Amino acid sequence: MTREPHPHLHVLTEGPVRTITLANPDRRNAQTPSLWLALAEEARSVPDDVRVVVIRGEGPSFSAGIDTAMFSPEGVKGEESIPALITRGPEAVADRIGHWQQGFAGWSTCPAVVIAEIQGHAIGAGFQLALSADLRVVASDALFAMREISLGLVPDLAGTKPLVDLVGYSRALEICTTGRLVSAHEAERLGLVTVLAAPDGLEDATLALAEAILAAPATAGRAVKPLLRHAVGSDLTSQVERERKAQAGLLAGFFARPPK
Ligand code: CAA
Repeated sequence: MTREPHPHLHVLTEGPVRTITLANPDRRNAQTPSLWLALAEEARSVPDDVRVVVIRGEGPSFSAGIDTAMFSPEGVKGEESIPALITRGPEAVADRIGHWQQGFAGWSTCPAVVIAEIQGHAIGAGFQLALSADLRVVASDALFAMREISLGLVPDLAGTKPLVDLVGYSRALEICTTGRLVSAHEAERLGLVTVLAAPDGLEDATLALAEAILAAPATAGRAVKPLLRHAVGSDLTSQVERERKAQAGLLAGFFARPPK
């Protein structure tokens, strides 16, 4: 089944795998607020029977980040430009950003395992979208950059926490303050890459990872993600309690019988 919830977003569901494609290749999948809101709705509405979500970009690059035309007074057709938004005051701006962030942070709580498939460039909001996924399959010639600093801004689309969690505070600070390019090989050394793939084998690598996830029993598979997500930032006592509860729930399921 295919859907187009946004002019630049194609969604294909094939059994337990949902593929969400950024579809504006002529602008290197540049992102806009309406796209972030559509992504937020997608993240909110993943049904339990979808076990893997793949987020990918059409064309040469995963995503070149925010559509830079958003910063001009003319903006992007159908979107409120950043200069227009700013006139509404800092509280209104922060409120809007809160909605946009759900297009990124929302993937952490969706029931499926989320894989970002990265080729070409993942810049700014593109890098942050890659970070919002649970796993990253990356072409060996791909490049990442947290370019917000070059616009006089900070990364604000839920990317700073996963970046710090994955690479550590000092390296994250260096990447965000310089805005430099990070190669796929360096990204792999830093822990940002789940699978490093040959550029012409990227889709196959994603499929193989999805198939490996789907090979596990569904109920246990669904329990693992919230369990491990909880481990990020929690203490041992709280985490072992979560393990006990998750396991007890699974074991209860083994012996559950329909009521007579
Ligand atoms: N916004 C709008 N259009 C973009 C774009 C962007 N972010 N990135 C690329 N494009 C457009 C180009 O203008 C170009 O359009 P035309 O064909 O009409 O000239 C087309 O896409 C192809 O671009 P390139 O020829 O540059 O393609 P490339 O493959 O040689 O290079 C690239 C790709 C390295 C990503 C380069 O396009 C680039 O550096 N883009 C800008 C990246 C950027 O600075 N993004 C903002 C990051 S900050 C952010 O995202 C955070 C935030 O929320 C504030």
